[in-house]
Amino acid sequence: MKILYFTATGNSLYIAKSLGGELLSIPQLDKKGIYEFTDDKIGIVFPLHAWGVPSYVAEFLKKASFNCEYLFAVTTYGIYSGAVAMHLTNIGKEAGYSFDYINRIKMVDNYLPTFDMKKEIEKEPKKFIEKHLVMVKSDIASSKQWILKESILNRASFNYMAKRGNKPFNEKRLKVHVYGEGIKNYIEVNDNCTQCGICTKVCPVDNIVIDNNDGKIALSDKCFMCFACIHNCPSNAIHIKGEVSDNRFRNSNVKLKEIITANN
Ligand SMILES: Cc1cc2nc3c(=O)[nH]c(=O)nc-3n(C[C@H](O)[C@H](O)[C@H](O)COP(=O)(O)O)c2cc1C
Repeated sequence: MKILYFTATGNSLYIAKSLGGELLSIPQLDKKGIYEFTDDKIGIVFPLHAWGVPSYVAEFLKKASFNCEYLFAVTTYGIYSGAVAMHLTNIGKEAGYSFDYINRIKMVDNYLPTFDMKKEIEKEPKKFIEKHLVMVKSDIASSKQWILKESILNRASFNYMAKRGNKPFNEKRLKVHVYGEGIKNYIEVNDNCTQCGICTKVCPVDNIVIDNNDGKIALSDKCFMCFACIHNCPSNAIHIKGEVSDNRFRNSNVKLKEIITANN
């Protein structure tokens, strides 16, 4: 079994590791231009963004082809999973494959513009992650055919969000994605920055460099807002406009080194 995964703060990597099999990092595959996969079972594990599949993972999946008996996906999310199964199914249709199983696991929500990470971490025990993980693992072991059901309201809300594109509802409290160029206006790096370079290594799309001239961090236009740089900064120097607090999160079962290895 192969598991292709993307993670920013470790939730999805923890799930991918727990499911077992050969782990393949999507950023590494993407950087090497590997998009064809063969195995008896293949799984995709990723964080849910804006009620669906993160744009970066979606672009990867559109290029991918899977030669397998059983194709499954597990998304990790914090509060509300919107229409992720519809989104994934549509991506698969476009790319020429279909999923046998799509499920979700509720974990800590790492969306800084809405949530205080300290409070989110306190809520973690009430999400019964291990119980859900055991269920999902057993489903996959028995090759269960099952796709997460989503209401018409969920689907309509997702389509509305997708149509709105990258316009924030409220500049002070960023509620939707800001991609590309625009992100520079929302990220601030303060004087705590030691130019350690960890942000450049955890960024899956190589969007961050340390400027040779002034030693400061410079962002390019490839950001898709995963927040890996912000959460994993050891000096808490990177901030997003409108963040609820400066508390940060990384899954307690995942080390910074593993995120660097996965995304570098
Ligand atoms: C930009 C962004 C958008 C998100 N949107 C949602 C969302 O719509 N619904 C939700 O429940 N969680 C949302 N989340 C929370 C993540 O899906 C969740 O914390 C996930 O487990 C993080 O996985 P990771 O640690 O592997 O990166 C969002 C997170 C980010 C960074």
